[in-house]
Formats: sequence, C-alpha cells, structure tokens
Amino acid sequence: MSREQQIKDACEKFALLVGEQLERAEAIKAQGGFADFGSLKPLVIGFCGGDGIGPIISAETRRIFTHLLAPQLERGDVVLKDIAGLTIENRSRAGKTLPDDVLEEIKSCHVILKGPTMTPQKGDGWPNLESANVAMRKELDLFANLRPVRVPELDIDWAFFRENTEGAYAVGNRGFEISPDLAVDFTMITDEGCRRIIEAAFDYAVKNGKSKVTAVTKANIIKTTDGMFLEIFSQIGERYPAIEKEERYIDIMTAKLIDERVRSGFQVVVLPNLYGDIITDEAGQIQGGVGTAGSANIGKRYAMFEAIHGSADRMVAEGRGDYANPSSLLRAAAMLLAHVELTEQARLLDRALDICQQEEAKIRITGNKGGATCREFGDYIMETLDKLAESCEPSR
Ligand code: IPM
Ligand code: MG
Repeated sequence: MSREQQIKDACEKFALLVGEQLERAEAIKAQGGFADFGSLKPLVIGFCGGDGIGPIISAETRRIFTHLLAPQLERGDVVLKDIAGLTIENRSRAGKTLPDDVLEEIKSCHVILKGPTMTPQKGDGWPNLESANVAMRKELDLFANLRPVRVPELDIDWAFFRENTEGAYAVGNRGFEISPDLAVDFTMITDEGCRRIIEAAFDYAVKNGKSKVTAVTKANIIKTTDGMFLEIFSQIGERYPAIEKEERYIDIMTAKLIDERVRSGFQVVVLPNLYGDIITDEAGQIQGGVGTAGSANIGKRYAMFEAIHGSADRMVAEGRGDYANPSSLLRAAAMLLAHVELTEQARLLDRALDICQQEEAKIRITGNKGGATCREFGDYIMETLDKLAESCEPSR
C-alpha cells in the first residue's frame, strides 16, 4: 500500500473516533445530577458472576447478602437478581462485549455486584473483544472508580479516585497498525470528564473530613491531556480553600507509596484512568494483595462494584476454584451497601472482614488446597456478623 493510502486510511479511522468522542463529550455535558440511591424501592441488586473464579466468589457474596439483608429481603425493600450471561463464551458467541440481553438485564438493576471477567488479549484464541469491565463502565457511564486502601497499623488511609471512562481506555481497543512498521493507540479526555471526577474527589474529601487531595499525572510528558486534567484540578481546587492541593507525577508517586516517611500523608488521590489502574494495584498490594481491595464504579444513574483482581482462570483449570478468596468482592459488596445507604450493614460487613482477614484470622485462604475454601471463609464471615450483631444490635 502506498504511503498516501496508509495516511488516508489512518485519517479516516481517526476521524470516526473523533466524531464519536465529540458526541460523548456532549452527552456528558447534558447529564443531570446523581440519582438518590438511598431511596430506591425496591432496590434491585444484580449479581454478575463473570468468568473463572467469578461465579464462585459471587455466589458466596450472594449467600452472605441473603444472611445480612434478611429483613430487607423479606420486606421486599431489596431484591437480588442473578445475571448469568456475562461469560467469555457467551460474549464470544454474541460477538459483543456486552450482549444486548445481558445489558438489558444489567440496566434493569440499580446497582451491580460484578465478579471478574476475563479480558481477551492478542493471541489467546478469543475474539478481540473489549474488556467487559471497561465496556460496562463506559456503557453505564460509571466515571468514578473509588478504590480505598486502609492499613491502620501503617497509618495508611487512602482513597483513590480513578477516572474510569476516558484516557487510555476511551478507545483502548481502537488503536491500529498504520503500516507493518507503525502502530498507534490513543488517549483522549474531555473537559467535563475531568471536572466530574475531580469534583467527586474534592466532595469526598469534604464529606470524610480529609484535608488534602493529590492529583497524579505525567503532565511533563503527556502534555495535552494530562495538562488539561491538572488545569481543571487547580480551577476546581480554588472552590475548596480549606483543602490542601498537591500535584505529583505518576513515576515518583509509585515510589512514594512505598516510602514510609511520606505515604501516610496521602489521603485522597485523583488521577486519570491508566495511572489509576496501575497505582491502585500497587496500593492494594501494600494492603495485603490485590485480592483484598474492593472497587466501586460510580455513575449518576448506575453503580457497579467489583473485585479488583482478575478471573484467575488458571485456578479453576487446576481444580483450585473452590479455594478462591472472596475478600475483594466482599469489600466491594460493603461499598455497595454504603452506596445505597445501608450504612449499618456496610459497616458490619467491613468490620467482619477486618476481623476475619486480619485481627482474628482463625482460618486462612491461601488459594491452594491446604488453605480454607471460599465457602468456609463465607461461613466464618457470617458467624462473625452474627457475633457483631449480638454485641450491638444494628438499626434495621
Ligand atoms: C481494573 C482491571 C481492569 C482495568 C482490567 C481487567 C480491564 O485491571 O479494574 O483495574 O484495566 O481497568
Ligand atoms: Mg487494574
């Protein structure tokens, strides 16, 4: 193919992307405020099991919800709905990351608890489908990815606000090879997309009595998009005079998270999508592993809560699926409860997790046959919930 033709083809593909993204920018601007998640009746919670260990940890979480939310379920205030079709087999068959019927079911819920889904990558035999997480975040416009990391004994209490729909993920599966010698990918952000995540981070800081928000970018190199993010950070920051504003680059930030003299100073951290993806794995590891962290994907109309780890298909292939650790999904489940204002139940579940994972840890999940099973851990959580409820009857 001639160079002229290569350039022409590339420009055509790019023009298409730009058109779509301009449309998305308009749609974000036209959005209203947040739904009142606390007053929905009945509140419909959808369970998507996903792939690999997903259905196992998801079923366990559902069992714990049935126990913890027994009065609400009985009164019909809360409904649990199973959504079975979000599997790689089904997605491949439909040739779509979110098959239409699955998306419809998802949209009939208010909040979703999602098990990990496997993301195809080049050469693994599955069609080049976009990640289901990413598609769901975009489709439901779940722009705020809140990932808290707490390690009280190290004086760590961080809340990461990762932008969740833009940046390197906006058209992540739409890069292309211009010629056998040249490949491109794109990163794109919008003004309103930056505003809403940065505002969410500052609002969270105010509501939770935090005194500092740190913006993390690589604006010295990725000048246009990260530059816009920082510019908006300083504009919005002016509206919050009581809050200290700090800017860091992602490279030094990854170092400072393991610098004991500095890291307890971080509180709320707001950052573009890809940096947020990377650094929250590091932060999760400091907390005890990515399997211990939960993740909330919050939009104005829907919210989805998920484990931060992948689907660990190998565990299932090796017959170790039943030994999967549901802790990350359970943390996400506690965030879901807090989001829909079942505050006391959220607190109880978080407390039970602290006890079962750290303080008491009567049994341990290792992911191997020597360790406890997912179900045994679920039983332990429920026993602990009962004990907590006995010692201080929650307001229901
Ligand atoms: C995450 C995950 C996903 C992401 C993957 C599975 C697509 O790493 O939620 O952090 O990159 O966002
Ligand atoms: Mg990640």
